[in-house]
Amino acid sequence: MALNNTNPTKTAAWEKLAQHYKNTKDTDLKELFANDSGRGKDFTIQWNDFLFDFSKNRITKETLSLLLELADEVGLKDAISKYFGGEAINQTENRAVLHTALRAKKSDSVKVDGVDVVPEVYEVKEHIKTFTEEIISGKKKGYTGKAFTDVVNIGIGGSDLGPAMVVEALKYYKNHLKTHFVSNVDGDHVHEVLKELDPETTLFVVVSKTFTTQETLSNATTIKNWFLKHATQEDVAKHFAAVSTNTEKISEFGISADNVFPMWDWVGGRFSLWSAVGITIALAVGYENFDALLMGANAMDDHFENTEFDSNIPVIMALLSIWYNNFHKAETEAIIPYTQYLSRFSAYLQQGIMESNGKSVDRNGDPVDYQTGTIIWGEPGTNAQHAFFQLIHQGTKLIPADFIGYKKSLHGDADHHNKLMANFFAQTEALMNGKTTEEVLSELKGKNLSEEEISALLPFKVFAGNKPTNTFLIDKLTPHSLGALISAYEHKIFVQGVVWNIFSYDQWGVELGKQLATNILKDINDLGISDHDSSTLSLLQKFKK
Ligand code: F6P
Repeated sequence: MALNNTNPTKTAAWEKLAQHYKNTKDTDLKELFANDSGRGKDFTIQWNDFLFDFSKNRITKETLSLLLELADEVGLKDAISKYFGGEAINQTENRAVLHTALRAKKSDSVKVDGVDVVPEVYEVKEHIKTFTEEIISGKKKGYTGKAFTDVVNIGIGGSDLGPAMVVEALKYYKNHLKTHFVSNVDGDHVHEVLKELDPETTLFVVVSKTFTTQETLSNATTIKNWFLKHATQEDVAKHFAAVSTNTEKISEFGISADNVFPMWDWVGGRFSLWSAVGITIALAVGYENFDALLMGANAMDDHFENTEFDSNIPVIMALLSIWYNNFHKAETEAIIPYTQYLSRFSAYLQQGIMESNGKSVDRNGDPVDYQTGTIIWGEPGTNAQHAFFQLIHQGTKLIPADFIGYKKSLHGDADHHNKLMANFFAQTEALMNGKTTEEVLSELKGKNLSEEEISALLPFKVFAGNKPTNTFLIDKLTPHSLGALISAYEHKIFVQGVVWNIFSYDQWGVELGKQLATNILKDINDLGISDHDSSTLSLLQKFKK
């Protein structure tokens, strides 16, 4: 059965929220804290090793209860059960959305069209386990009998960003294998990577859900041709593996059936790192860590599916984002992890969030007259502080931000970690408090400046504060906690799509550019140039000269 089809702006809760926004839009966070000593505790959810503090948001208990009313009115509960239950909620592609089944427990049962998919998932997991263990241990060898030293993931979008982000995030847990990622169709990318490789000791994993993606097939072909300069066609079987739903195309490419890892059309590319798409993760950190990542996600799935909405982390994350996006008219959200390991986290979430919810047509096929997907960006703190924080603190735009920090550092350098975390806490406090005229005055008065100098400087040094943040304080960056964190953002995406009444699991918007590029490539390779606008025409002529 399809998802409910409710225009969120026509609900009673939306109307109340609009009125509530008018009444509270000037609310100052500092005042909210001053008037309620229990605020920090009341707006914090402690779940396993996660503490999610959302108290530094422009909300009151009434805001939260109206947002929860909105979730009820659009049928979120029913939508969650259809999502986990394997119904074809990706309606425009007539598919279920079941990345959650990839991290289900072995004893679970998840049915798609009446068939339990968990046994198939575990069959592929078992294959990933034996294959990766044999590569890591050196049992499987290259064509000259040497153990593998390097692994290259060839894929793009969801077939690259997830594995690349996680391998970087779990660098601390890495084994001896060196991992490389080739994604861009830019030949300079693949040739730079090839420079570092020895064909005798490198394993190539071609990852493409469809096995039709131009970038991936071009890179895989270039790499295979490079490999064949050193080895024979027969040796390809030892050095190439593939992950796809399109097993026919894989065999055309010449990859041995033993090295083929299937996936399913009910896994969206941007949610696929939990499938065999994550094989590079298992190669980099070992199968046990890969499985722990999956089990962390499973724990968050359980929290999301079974916890009341008022203490449900992904639900609250999503509703707060809607509050800023649709009522406060914020356009972007920043994600600032206070760990260098998560340096690829916001790039990864850009695809997850923006490809999913960057939609302007509702579930009736009608244009929406309200805002949907938010723009996501961010970099790790403290680097981010020295780059773009000025604009968040004193610019004209409202930018809600997620701060993600860990109680323990992995290398255990307390001096560095305490400094890092002091910045982490200081920034959310500073964003909220700002600096008042009185505070700046008293600071300047202690500086031996004239009255004129003080009043000239004053307006530039005051900042309004009242900038909203969420804080995730997690015990430690482990495969398990990382899995849970990613899963929380995945469910945030789902909740927002449900409320905005859009289809979050297709991506037709990226198709047009692909089609035009195919036509333009013909123009570039052929003698003539087909019909284009005057700008494109002249650019093509200049390029071809
Ligand atoms: O960018 C569009 C897209 O279809 C993504 O959704 C997907 O992750 C990526 O291309 C790669 O697709 P594939 O895994 O089929 O090569």
